[in-house]
Parts: sequence; C-alpha cells; structure tokens
Amino acid sequence: MTDDSTFHHGDATSAAPIVEMKNIEKHFGNIIALAGVSFDVRPGECHCLLGDNGAGKSTFIKTMSGVHKPTKGEILFEGKPMSFSTPRDAMEAGIATVFQDLAMIPLMSVTRNFFMGREPTKGKGLLKRFDIDYANEVTMTEMRKMGINLRGPDQAVGTLSGGERQTVAIARAVHFGAKVLILDEPTSALGVRQTSNVLATIDKVRNQGIGVVFISHNVRHALAVGDRFTVLNRGQTLGTAKRGDISPEELQDLMAGGQEMAALEGSLGGTV
Ligand SMILES: Nc1ncnc2c1ncn2[C@@H]1O[C@H](COP(=O)(O)OP(=O)(O)OP(=O)(O)O)[C@@H](O)[C@H]1O
Ligand SMILES: [Mg+2]
Repeated sequence: MTDDSTFHHGDATSAAPIVEMKNIEKHFGNIIALAGVSFDVRPGECHCLLGDNGAGKSTFIKTMSGVHKPTKGEILFEGKPMSFSTPRDAMEAGIATVFQDLAMIPLMSVTRNFFMGREPTKGKGLLKRFDIDYANEVTMTEMRKMGINLRGPDQAVGTLSGGERQTVAIARAVHFGAKVLILDEPTSALGVRQTSNVLATIDKVRNQGIGVVFISHNVRHALAVGDRFTVLNRGQTLGTAKRGDISPEELQDLMAGGQEMAALEGSLGGTV
C-alpha cells in the first residue's frame, strides 16, 4: 500500500476554487438525495468525497458535471455562476468526469478509446480521415507520462489491467485540457498494486495544477493522496477537514455515521 509519506502535499487550500458548489439540493420526486451540500475544489489539490452507499456522492458529482440540474443551490465556475445543461457543456468548460464504468470499448485499441468522439483528422474533403499516426503517438506519449508503457497503441483496452484502464481515462481527460478531474471510485475494484498506481497517477495530475475530486469508500485510499476530505451522510455534509487536521480513526468514524460505528464495535467487541 502507498503510505502517506509517498506524496508531497502542497497547501493548495489558499488558491481560489475552480468550482464552488453552494448549498446544493437535489430532489428526485419526494426523495431528497442532497439536502444542501457545499463543496469546492481548488487547483492542484485532491479533494476526497467520502460517504457510505446512498450518501449522495454520485448524485453530487453528477450535479457538478452537468448530468443533473440542482433543485436548489448555486454552482460557480472560476468565480462565475454557471449552469451546465449537459455533460458536454461541463466537459468543454474543463470539468472531466471518469465514471466507474469508464465508458470504454474493450475490443477497440487504446488509441481509438483515447480519442473516441474527438478524433484528429488529416486531409480535406473526401480525403479527410482519422490521423492514426498522430493519434498513436499522442496516446503512447500521454500514457508514458502517467508511467505506463503500452506494448503498442493497437493494444486492445480489454487486455489492460483495471488500473491501466483507469489511467487511460485519466490521461485522456488531462490531454483534452481538464481543469477539474472527477473520479468516481477509481480504486474500488482494484488490487493493492494497481491501487498504488492509480493513486500515483492522481498525484501526478494534482501536481500539474488540476483540481481532483476523488470519490471513495476507502479511508486509506483517500488518506494516501487527499489534501482535503468531505464526508457525506444521507445527503448532508458532515464537514470538510484538511489533511493533518483529522485522524484516520476520526475519518472512518464520520464515514460510518459515528454512533452506528461505535455500536457495531461494541457488539463485535473490537475495532471494525
Ligand atoms: N435518478 C434517481 N432517482 C431517484 N432516486 C435517486 C436517483 N439517483 C439517486 N437517487 C437516490 O439518491 C440517494 C443517493 O444516491 P447516490 O447514488 O448519489 O449515492 P452514492 O453515495 O453515490 O452511493 P454508492 O456509494 O452506493 O455509489 C439514494 O437514496 C438513491 O436511491
Ligand atoms: Mg455512487
């Protein structure tokens, strides 16, 4: 496991936020998925969003990335009120989201997946076609920057490991100019080594000045790379803590909803 000392943590918390979400509420009929959540992400930081199943994490980031419209509340992008109608709008502004299913086609090459929907072309008119040489070179270079040496650009995405696939999605977002990168549970299905690789990739991205929103259930993964931590519980925020201001135990406890965890520990006679 990657330990806390592996990454250098800057004090990004003094910079102006790239995205600021203020008192966001989201209702689905009479279900209140978000009941007034505030959260911001600043350049060069990794802000972890933690919480148990159903806490509202995915709903929250979908609101940030233009999938959902908030029922109430305000979104500021680079200080200005912003309302994204579609994920495409958010992406063009520089908010890139890597969803858990990654939206990749396993049988297609890494290059094809990397450029899907944004293919570079060469030639004009009838001669216009996909510029495969350029695309291959960019793909190899961008993956190398993230520490992955592909066998070749034709390698099918389906033959990569889970961690390498996450890295393709992250490298792609960075290449296309993301200012904010949202990762929904990128490490939840990975083994120890691949998790370390993905955390190292998050660290590289953060050090380029991109703001990373890292969603996780796993306190250890969050602590390994996070600069700030926000915990959601049943659509409400339990607060935001800076790295160093909160212990792993406190964070774990908050995530489990505090008292519920204490009760469980009591009944199991130990630390969960
Ligand atoms: N489209 C929807 N329609 C109705 N209810 C929804 C919808 N999307 C989410 N919800 C509800 O909102 C709440 C928060 O769900 P959400 O998926 O945001 O949680 P989560 O924190 O991402 O959970 P998990 O860790 O399981 O992914 C849940 O009660 C869920 O059932
Ligand atoms: Mg979710």
